[in-house]
Amino acid sequence: GAPIELDLAPIAEGQAIKLFWRGKLIFVRHRTKKEIDEARAVNVATLPDPQSDQERVKEGHAQFLVVYGNCTHLGCVPLGNAPGDPKGDYDGWFCPCHGSHYDSSGRIRKGPAPLNLPIPPYAFMADTKIKIG
Ligand code: FES
Repeated sequence: GAPIELDLAPIAEGQAIKLFWRGKLIFVRHRTKKEIDEARAVNVATLPDPQSDQERVKEGHAQFLVVYGNCTHLGCVPLGNAPGDPKGDYDGWFCPCHGSHYDSSGRIRKGPAPLNLPIPPYAFMADTKIKIG
């Protein structure tokens, strides 16, 4: 599939949208300051799949997190995008299939999933516009 452009302006703070690119589910989340601060306060060495939040977002655009949206355990779709969804114990996503908790950086924190939600290739074209692919 060709790259796609996405306007991030309509994504409310604290919410995420879902889209498909090359047949794969992607979440784009507009993070709150609290969610960013929480993601950056963690001691990375204690994580099951150690990655800093800074490695997982684009510099200067930390309010937006772009991740593949299937649980790294067995591929279910974690909850946490819509208002009122459970977000797990770490303000990110909760996978109801077997109880994996992802944090506000999309990193696995608790449960059977082995890896963080991966980051697809993307770049910012403007402050609220990205190109995926
Ligand atoms: Fe998500 Fe098993 S598929 S916890």
